[in-house]
Amino acid sequence: MNLKEMLQLADQIVFTKTGQHLDDLQAAVLRGTLQGQIYKKIARDLDCSESSVRNAGSQLWRILSEELGEEVSKTNFRSTMERLQSSNANVLNFSRVNNIFNICGDTPHSPNIPNSNRPTEQTSNSQQPPIHQDLSEMPELGAFYGRTGELENLTNWILQQSCRLIALTGISGIGKTTLAVKLVQQIKDEFECVIWCSLEASPTLAEFQDRLHHFFSPSENPDTPKIKSGPLPLIKYLQKSRCLVVLDDAHHLFSSGELAGKYKAGYEDYRSFFQQVEKLYHQSCFVLIGWELPREVAKENSQTTPIKILQLAGVDREAGRAILRDYGLANLKNESALLDGYQGNPFWLKSVASLIQEVGLGVTDLFPNHPILLPEDLKDVFQEQWERLSEIEKQVMCRLAQESEPVNLAKLLENVTMPPSDLLNALQSLSRRCLIEKQDNLYRIYRAFGQYIAGL
Ligand SMILES: Nc1ncnc2c1ncn2[C@@H]1O[C@H](COP(=O)(O)OP(=O)(O)O)[C@@H](O)[C@H]1O
Ligand SMILES: [Mg+2]
Repeated sequence: MNLKEMLQLADQIVFTKTGQHLDDLQAAVLRGTLQGQIYKKIARDLDCSESSVRNAGSQLWRILSEELGEEVSKTNFRSTMERLQSSNANVLNFSRVNNIFNICGDTPHSPNIPNSNRPTEQTSNSQQPPIHQDLSEMPELGAFYGRTGELENLTNWILQQSCRLIALTGISGIGKTTLAVKLVQQIKDEFECVIWCSLEASPTLAEFQDRLHHFFSPSENPDTPKIKSGPLPLIKYLQKSRCLVVLDDAHHLFSSGELAGKYKAGYEDYRSFFQQVEKLYHQSCFVLIGWELPREVAKENSQTTPIKILQLAGVDREAGRAILRDYGLANLKNESALLDGYQGNPFWLKSVASLIQEVGLGVTDLFPNHPILLPEDLKDVFQEQWERLSEIEKQVMCRLAQESEPVNLAKLLENVTMPPSDLLNALQSLSRRCLIEKQDNLYRIYRAFGQYIAGL
């Protein structure tokens, strides 16, 4: 630990106690002390009286002693700083003192200050620092079945591997939000700050940062100048505290009618923000949820990056059966066909279960060979996704919808009238949107979606 680092640490402790950083005299006293100088020499170098240096020194030792709960003096100042550093060696920039980080010289996070503008919760016990939470936008968790493996993976990535950015993707209705709610409920106590933000209203980066800024510094006067737009300021908070930030409905950041993951005009600065979240050191975790991901995130998924992508498939049969049971559809005739037809998508299953329940159980008997019914709310969901596609993606989807079996690239190339590079771009984009599945070099679309397209 060098002199500058010791001074930084002392500055943070003093700031935590007094709300003020070291002034020039105090800094000079500490610097001189660390260099083994007596007060007289420090005073001479500063060209001031020895008594003022002595006074500044004794005030500092008092502040440090009170804040650290142990006697700190001119003789043990260096060893105290070194001991603090080594006891926090695993923590960023040796600056964690009494659970308060202040690497950047900002106002330290003050979890006990209530936020009158937004419902937040603070929980505490005598061992742990209080958790600062804003889960006002997190949906309530209803029935939850299956997903044990997915929860294990996510928990491992976040808590054991300290991944900074986790992307949770999958077709609409597959259960991304629900899984994330369950995850947050299970791991939130491991974080100092937890916030759930929906991007449904398409906030600009500046608006989003503003929201987080108020969350992290609730005591700040709203009339004071806002955080500058640009990614760096927000990253400071993620460095200061261990935060879990969930961003749901991320697809609202991207353009319609383009290949997947192209930012809408005015939203491009999210790109550098997500890059910062990935590249800069911090101790927080972002969970990004959506059926479309930023391109820079979609292409990363290696062992070596702090990004992980989980693409959700349908729930297993047992969970699917449990969902049907909740609608009074236990032991339904055609149950297997129904579960296969909707490929374990919980929303699709709920939608059709509700239709069957309302119309009467006999409805599946009417379509013994066509278990894929398309209730109106399901059509609406498909329409929303269909309208976002680019023209080349629509062509490929129409082509795939005509196939009852998965097809390979060669066959697709024979049957679509577009340059091969367009076809490849469309396939990449559709798989990023989770609208097509690729297995053993064969492509296929979800059967329910295929049926919707066939009816267009
Ligand atoms: N594991 C699950 N068990 C039971 N119901 C689920 C499960 N996952 C999702 N659902 C239900 O399916 C519907 C769609 O889930 P949601 O999480 O909103 O999907 P997504 O965010 O992927 O669009 C919701 O009504 C939700 O309650
Ligand atoms: Mg969702």
